[in-house]
Amino acid sequence: MNKNASNHIVVHKRGGPEVLSWEPVQVRTPGAGEVRVRIEAAGVSGYDLMIRGHWFLGFIKTPYTPGEDFVGIVDAIGPDVSNFTIGQRVAGWTFGQGGGYAEMIVRPAETLVSVPDGVALVMAAAIITNYLTASLVLEKTAKVRPGERLLIHGAAGGLGSALLQLGNLAGFEMFGTGSEKSTDFIADNGAVPINYRTENFVRRIRELTGDGVDVVIDVVGGPCQLWRSSRCLRRGGRLVMLGMASIYESGAAIIPLSLLTAGTVALWPNGVSVPMSPSMLSFPAKNLDWYRDTLTDLLEKAAAGRLRPAIAAEIPVPEAPQSHAMLETGGLVGKVVLTNSK
Ligand SMILES: NC(=O)c1ccc[n+]([C@@H]2O[C@H](COP(=O)([O-])OP(=O)(O)OC[C@H]3O[C@@H](n4cnc5c(N)ncnc54)[C@H](OP(=O)(O)O)[C@@H]3O)[C@@H](O)[C@H]2O)c1
Repeated sequence: MNKNASNHIVVHKRGGPEVLSWEPVQVRTPGAGEVRVRIEAAGVSGYDLMIRGHWFLGFIKTPYTPGEDFVGIVDAIGPDVSNFTIGQRVAGWTFGQGGGYAEMIVRPAETLVSVPDGVALVMAAAIITNYLTASLVLEKTAKVRPGERLLIHGAAGGLGSALLQLGNLAGFEMFGTGSEKSTDFIADNGAVPINYRTENFVRRIRELTGDGVDVVIDVVGGPCQLWRSSRCLRRGGRLVMLGMASIYESGAAIIPLSLLTAGTVALWPNGVSVPMSPSMLSFPAKNLDWYRDTLTDLLEKAAAGRLRPAIAAEIPVPEAPQSHAMLETGGLVGKVVLTNSK
């Protein structure tokens, strides 16, 4: 048996979900400091869709295999790796290098953490990128303090649901926007739901709070959306621009327009600031202790039942095109996870 034979989703040319092609690939034998992992589950994210279909700063050059986070079983270890054993379940983030939509991956051992017993592998896969991003944003970018009010847009999506659950655990007063299907989920996770398709969220926030919220976390993007988000803030409030979920509808032009709007909001004399998040592609890679400690803590909270990531769908890796089409259509609650059969 060829132990290095694997199948991967490969993108040769940017385009729609159909450019995700399932192909045989030879993976390397792990070298010094490396571990080879047989992937069991991999997360699908809005980021994967953006780099597959749209112009995006820092994208990976084609051909590439998408997939930012994965959970799997250690299959082979490099000569000097002593902290992992073959057969151990691990989780990891690829820090923008992709590679998760595959049967196997070779990664530096220092980027992996052990997955505790008691957390289902799809749940573990749903934790990695989104909950790490959400932790960083709540603690270091928005610096949300006890007693503050928080508006989370796209609160039922992969990243939004992570923000919602961590905010709920911290006891923040929260409001969350989503479409019709997500209102129960948002309410069950401790926030007041606002249906962005039928309600004016600026007016609704004013009705519910009087003077507005302290923090808006916006994963939707676009100039109109960001300007309206800023109108929900109290004096001293923070607008955190975190994603561009509306790029599927509006196209890549919203990226420069969003940056321009964020700059205008920051300069507008109404006491609102627009703190910039550290890059989630480079921050964890440069702060490996923070990354490993935070991910281990999040996985332990999931194992203890304190975090319950919502899973929108489990789809076999070769059917990744379907997973991207689902995210583009929208209306999902939680994270889409790709799985490999045993
Ligand atoms: N900065 C970072 O480090 C980082 C990390 C992870 C993700 N992201 C970014 O965050 C964005 C979201 O990613 P994701 O993985 O969470 O995607 P996702 O799972 O597809 O979630 C997007 C959510 O946005 C909602 N939405 C769409 N338009 C909306 C609107 N006008 N108002 C309110 N909600 C709206 C969708 O709700 P419906 O489907 O119900 O319409 C969906 O629940 C992407 O741009 C991604 O690149 C950034």
